[in-house]
Amino acid sequence: MDADWPLSPTPLHLNHGSFGAVPRFALTAQAALRDEMEAAPVRWFAGLPDRIAAARAEIARFLRVAPETLALVPNASGGASVAFAGLPFPHGGEIIVTDHGYGAVTMGAERLARRRHGTVRTVHVPLDAGAEEAASAVIGAITGRTALIIADHLTSPTARFLPVDLIGRVARERGIPFLVDGAHVPALLETPLAGVDCDVWVGNLHKFGCAPRSTGVLVARGPHVQELWPLIDSWGAPLPYPRRFDVQGTLDVTAQLAAPGTLTGIDARWGWAAVRARASELAGSGASVIAAAFTALTGEDHTVRVGMPAGPMRLVRLPGTLGTGPGAPDALRARVLAELSAECAFGQFGGVGYLRLSAHVYNSTADYEEFAERCVPVLTRWAGPVSTRSTPWPAPSPDR
Ligand SMILES: Cc1ncc(COP(=O)(O)O)c(C=O)c1O
Repeated sequence: MDADWPLSPTPLHLNHGSFGAVPRFALTAQAALRDEMEAAPVRWFAGLPDRIAAARAEIARFLRVAPETLALVPNASGGASVAFAGLPFPHGGEIIVTDHGYGAVTMGAERLARRRHGTVRTVHVPLDAGAEEAASAVIGAITGRTALIIADHLTSPTARFLPVDLIGRVARERGIPFLVDGAHVPALLETPLAGVDCDVWVGNLHKFGCAPRSTGVLVARGPHVQELWPLIDSWGAPLPYPRRFDVQGTLDVTAQLAAPGTLTGIDARWGWAAVRARASELAGSGASVIAAAFTALTGEDHTVRVGMPAGPMRLVRLPGTLGTGPGAPDALRARVLAELSAECAFGQFGGVGYLRLSAHVYNSTADYEEFAERCVPVLTRWAGPVSTRSTPWPAPSPDR
């Protein structure tokens, strides 16, 4: 595997979900596209919209969605910004988000609400809630003022799925625009949008899909499709959705053009089903090994049971109050990187700190054994004597 991936052996990389490795063959393909661009820039940009349209059609096939529903965007955040700018939102409307939401997207929702003198309501979904309970929490919060619902397909701080199919059904029945943040989901699920009805679904091919970075997708359905516009006003403006997203001025879109070949290349080399199975096995066994190492030192149970778990992303409970408090997960991540040379994600939810493991095929069981042996004793020492705190902190996202 090492020959296939450019990751350095240090730091220990257990965090594909935030920023993961791109296979060498994909970077080589992107570099060849860059060379082509630089060799004849005028010809390159003149032919670009058609090439983007062709890439978009291939990506739509991979995600098993109709090509006319899919547009390319720089990243999932950009896709959410497109939704905030384009979906109808009345003065004084309310946006429903969950307490598992990705912080940056939630902040975008808050700005939208402020602009329209509206409000954001954060719904609590218990970590272990199954599909019905989680859907009821969101649906039960709908009021006559609800003008937008946002749910993460696979949550960043808590590594669990949300029942976006059940929520979407009710949102559509009631005519409430629904934005699904599926940043982690492309390639991690074979048919991510099966059974999911929503106005806008955004995802990243540069996460589990391992495409070169800046490859977000936006899938739009329902009555508001033609109200969606790309982030950059450019010459595609007179064109219908999604063609207008193919024209974005002078941008380096070599990552987008290299994305279809990355997806098919991974399939040809390793097979997506095998990649998913291997990443799930690694994250599952890695979480067990690390939780057991904590237990050996604290005598407590560090395993975590989430409702609707996601195979390649798993949580381990941190000891004491480690990783809790405003800014604490980010500070812990920086300290672990600086002092332990390990790259991993930390999050907090309901006043509890978590290590989030996010595996891909370049990881190995030895990675988790190393973390258990080398890092767990230090983290336990950093946690100090176990103390309990009853007030939950808000949950920032580990993916930044
Ligand atoms: C749930 C979720 N949404 C959005 C994003 C943002 O992704 P990007 O920075 O590629 O836009 C992330 C990043 O990890 C995420 O986890």
